[in-house]
Amino acid sequence: MVDVVRVRNRMVDALREAGRVRSAAVEEAFRSVPRHLFLPGLAVSDAYADEAVAVQFSDGVATSSASQPSMMAIMLEQLDLKPGHRVLEIGAGTGYNAALMARIVGPAGAVTAVDIDEELVDRAAGHLESAGVDGVELVVADGAEGYPSGAPYDRIVLTVGSDDVLPAWVAQLAPGGRLLLPLAVRGSQLSVALDLGVDGVLRCDSVRSCAFIRLRGTAASAETSRIVDGLGVALQTPDDAPEPDLAAAARALADPGEQRTAPVRLGAVDVWDGFGLWLALTEPGVCRLLAVRPDTPLADHLLPLGATAGTVALSAGGGLAAVVPVESRGCGAADVAVREFGRDARALADRLLAALDAWAAAGRPGASDWRLTVVPVGVDAPALPAPQVIVKRHCRVLAEPPRPQQRG
Ligand SMILES: C[S@@+](CC[C@H](N)C(=O)[O-])C[C@H]1O[C@@H](n2cnc3c(N)ncnc32)[C@H](O)[C@@H]1O
Repeated sequence: MVDVVRVRNRMVDALREAGRVRSAAVEEAFRSVPRHLFLPGLAVSDAYADEAVAVQFSDGVATSSASQPSMMAIMLEQLDLKPGHRVLEIGAGTGYNAALMARIVGPAGAVTAVDIDEELVDRAAGHLESAGVDGVELVVADGAEGYPSGAPYDRIVLTVGSDDVLPAWVAQLAPGGRLLLPLAVRGSQLSVALDLGVDGVLRCDSVRSCAFIRLRGTAASAETSRIVDGLGVALQTPDDAPEPDLAAAARALADPGEQRTAPVRLGAVDVWDGFGLWLALTEPGVCRLLAVRPDTPLADHLLPLGATAGTVALSAGGGLAAVVPVESRGCGAADVAVREFGRDARALADRLLAALDAWAAAGRPGASDWRLTVVPVGVDAPALPAPQVIVKRHCRVLAEPPRPQQRG
């Protein structure tokens, strides 16, 4: 018979060793809440693997999942829960994260978890009961409105991706409260821990890269990936960018030009974090090229997709310049070059090469090196030295670049 406690402790030991679990409170919660009871029907070893587990699909696309334990640990550390805290979770899913949080806030605290899907909420209620977890109120609701009747909350956490910081969440935070959410930032998704100040500004000193299912309902995210006809490639543009000209992109990609070597190596993560995020926050016209199906062989001139099945590019005026792996399509980090596609791509390629240089000179910063400040509409922005500004419907996100001297 499987020794469930041993398997669970092995998962937690690995999370500790990897630095994902750092505090005693988060460690204790992971050691005591039985994840396998929130994933009935799954083998115990699979329930304790460090993987996300999709639990609901619509048209072949996952609409709910038990998140990857590593990511859950990172976010629970970002959330900094204390005994007695009142917490709202948007995206109850299986109920596992709510159970972990209930364990940390204890009997003096309270966790309310909402999900837009009634069937999922019913199932989560069964999981919580079988795990013997008290202290979680489950609600069927569109989390875009928060859950006003339980407000104010010391912590509000979304375990589902959002394009924006919605007014209801800010309004339902207690003074000094923290809002943690996977936020779309120029095509990447970042887990940002935002502390509400007395001036109404939300300041963040903890940013992590993440990849969550996106919100359904009234605040559903706009689709940002569009398939380029006939090439097996999708073009992803930032949520705040104008609609791309797909016909022009197809023409450019069918017309590969000169390639120049860059002085850096890049890995898969750098499409979204690392260099990809740097480029998206510092240059206009950023897009990502993604294989529609990563297992589909692509035309040779689409080598920009390389081993990672995705790359970053700059596009403007019918031309495109993309980061290209110069080695084979193997795995891991690769030496890269910048390749021109279509007419008039020379200036774009120059900009891309200069951005690679600047990123390397800054110490290859990643998501956690950026400082973000969220200014809700109607609130005055604080004075910051030359931040990048991302304008959303309900807020502005100010991104301060990493300071080179902070890095070794
Ligand atoms: C990644 S899953 C959350 C995992 C969950 N925290 C757990 O521990 O299992 C994202 C969840 O967000 C829910 N969701 C999507 N849009 C929502 C909305 N507008 N309001 C509330 N929940 C939503 C989905 O139904 C899905 O269950």
